[in-house]
Amino acid sequence: MSMEGLKKHGVRIALDAEEFIGKHSITEEELLSLEKKFISAEDLQPILKKREEEKEIKPEATKAEVSLSPDFSPAAKEYSPEIKVRESLDVTGKSRTEGGVNDFVDYFRNRYERLSALLRTYSGKYPEADLEGISRLAGQKIRAIVMVSEIRETKKGNILLQVEDLTGQFKVVISQRDEQAFEKARNIVNDDVILIYGKVAQAFIIAEDFEWPDLRVTREKKKPERDLAAVYLSDLHFGSKQFLGDYFNRFTDWIAGKGENTELAGKVKYVFVAGDIVDGIGIYPNQEKDLDVLDIFKQYELFSGFVQELPDYLEVIVCPGNHDAVRRAEPMPALPKDILGCDVLSLGSPSTLCVENTEHLLYHGTSSDSWIASLSHLSYDHPEKVMAECLKRRHLSPMFGGNAVVPEKLDYMVIENEPDVVHFGHVHKNGYMRYRDSLIINSGTFQDTTDFQQKQGHIPTPAKVPIYEFMQERLRTLDFTR
Ligand SMILES: [Fe+2]
Ligand SMILES: [Fe+2]
Repeated sequence: MSMEGLKKHGVRIALDAEEFIGKHSITEEELLSLEKKFISAEDLQPILKKREEEKEIKPEATKAEVSLSPDFSPAAKEYSPEIKVRESLDVTGKSRTEGGVNDFVDYFRNRYERLSALLRTYSGKYPEADLEGISRLAGQKIRAIVMVSEIRETKKGNILLQVEDLTGQFKVVISQRDEQAFEKARNIVNDDVILIYGKVAQAFIIAEDFEWPDLRVTREKKKPERDLAAVYLSDLHFGSKQFLGDYFNRFTDWIAGKGENTELAGKVKYVFVAGDIVDGIGIYPNQEKDLDVLDIFKQYELFSGFVQELPDYLEVIVCPGNHDAVRRAEPMPALPKDILGCDVLSLGSPSTLCVENTEHLLYHGTSSDSWIASLSHLSYDHPEKVMAECLKRRHLSPMFGGNAVVPEKLDYMVIENEPDVVHFGHVHKNGYMRYRDSLIINSGTFQDTTDFQQKQGHIPTPAKVPIYEFMQERLRTLDFTR
């Protein structure tokens, strides 16, 4: 301390204070902060008190940045998980097909029967007719539930559908002069099961309207009873050179209470991963140049390392994607435990499960490619719109041949239950939407833009994690790039 400096400021120090100042190494700055012209020993007490307070604050501030976990008391830890898997809707362990003609017949019949049951709930404004011998009804208005086997445009620019049901085949024409029906018909895809209202002519039905099976506009829902949350991930692509490890570490730190908004982090009980857990091997030509890890088991080791780092009260629920180590054709069975190398709930893609009274549909979203190729209003920028088309169809991948589908006896791609939350990945772009009474979530990725995406003009949205609070029905996105 310089007494000279204090004198300049007109501050005098009492004799009893001088010893105290020396003992506690009190600085000139601290003395001036008292804003007194005469300082006695008694006046110095507040300086020590302030130092004590700062000492208390300082370590806490350091904790918040470096390690908050000892003080993290997550609400989710107090609850056991509440998960009901709809086993009958998951192909895992049930694939029986040999891919013969009969398997295909059974597969399409199963789809037709289940979707037509939904379509029968629509109004019967005209009598229902089978396609067999339908030309006898020429001149009459009917409704028919059909599967679309071919879509063509006529020379006059009308739409011509070849359709079938369990009894026979027929043709349907949608005239471009009927603007409303024509616009609607442009959304029909191959193998769609639809309800057609129209007038029978000799060789075809002149359609006036259509319906897809769809979801009900509103429905009674069970109420979640516990204040918990889920995070939705997909397309981690462990093993890829483009894997965004720094951002991912921020996410794992956050979920373990070592970041901001620890109250929200503490509500997270469930971590969903909708496929493409790893980048895989030989998924596309020359993939090796894009890989950091060339051994598929080592790629999954990276994933199991992540799972082991997570707080142990969390439930991790995964399904495979087209980069994962199961059959590529859909429905995809669950990844075996010995490949995953960790204890998670491994389900097929698609799969259906009820979590916290909230019905979930979990699907990688591989069919998004064929949806986007088939319908002009869809694009990679809005994966949520693709997902809404699936819900409207009550089918995840109707276009046979669009992406590989195995003809199982049960069509697992039919959306049997009306989901409260629909979770897809695959497109690497976050997208959200409320469709009727369902919440649609596409959960993006933790992989940076690949050369392929750059060439295609896709702009991914990495490291943005959707989180859903069940009781509040609130969806937020956490951005781990910042
Ligand atoms: Fe992916
Ligand atoms: Fe994918």
